[in-house]
Amino acid sequence: MHILGRNAHDVNTPVLNRAGMVLILYPLKFTAWLKYLWLSSLQATENERIAKLITKNLMDFQPFRKYSNTFIETGTNHGVSVYSALEAGFTIIKSVELDPKLYNQCLLKFSGNNKVKLYHGKSVDRLPEMIADIEIPSVFWLDAHPSGPGTAGHEEWLKRDKSVYQDNILAEELGIILEHGRHVILIDDQKGWKTAQQFADMIDICYPDSYEFTIHDEIRPGVHYKDKVLVCIPIG
Ligand SMILES: C[S@@+](CC[C@H](N)C(=O)[O-])C[C@H]1O[C@@H](n2cnc3c(N)ncnc32)[C@H](O)[C@@H]1O
Repeated sequence: MHILGRNAHDVNTPVLNRAGMVLILYPLKFTAWLKYLWLSSLQATENERIAKLITKNLMDFQPFRKYSNTFIETGTNHGVSVYSALEAGFTIIKSVELDPKLYNQCLLKFSGNNKVKLYHGKSVDRLPEMIADIEIPSVFWLDAHPSGPGTAGHEEWLKRDKSVYQDNILAEELGIILEHGRHVILIDDQKGWKTAQQFADMIDICYPDSYEFTIHDEIRPGVHYKDKVLVCIPIG
């Protein structure tokens, strides 16, 4: 069936006008959009589910700027936290993204900004190179995980491949970071101490009594996410 166009040879071919196309395509688009939201919400934490609906700016890094000039992120996504880190005044910002499309989009977004360096690949593969020459302490924002269609690890997550689960990625990332030195580490997407304790324990085993651990709510106009970010600050 021809959907568009009518020419001299097929005057009898049914033609859908613009209103007809809207009637067919919009429900399809709407269904695809609903599916996208549903799948995204399954992979996002409870906090993120609400956050994504309400706001794009997920974190204010200003309070951590006093510890370092350097900000390292895992999971660039659309670069929202890179923007936040720039706003907070960090002068060296490095971020790694596994999905090639998101990585390339962010390359364009931040091209010409010599404070930002982007990496493509798995965080655990690229972190050693990213942190080889950084100052101690630097500020780490750990946020790499599948978060719905169009993000890395989504297909594997649907097949219940545990290697892409956020906790497993985090544990590996932490191993690399702790081996490098005592850094300020911010770990996103916690559900209070129920999930955060395991990461605090990992750090404590490596550097006994050398860190202060707190869980931060995220509060911004109109939204309040309880116990979302595990904040690990070196002491002494
Ligand atoms: C929740 S989003 C990150 C949001 C971003 N940090 C921010 O604050 O705006 C998670 C991102 O991690 C990416 N990702 C998933 N697994 C990854 C991995 N192993 N290494 C690097 N990035 C990964 C996904 O493609 C997705 O873009």
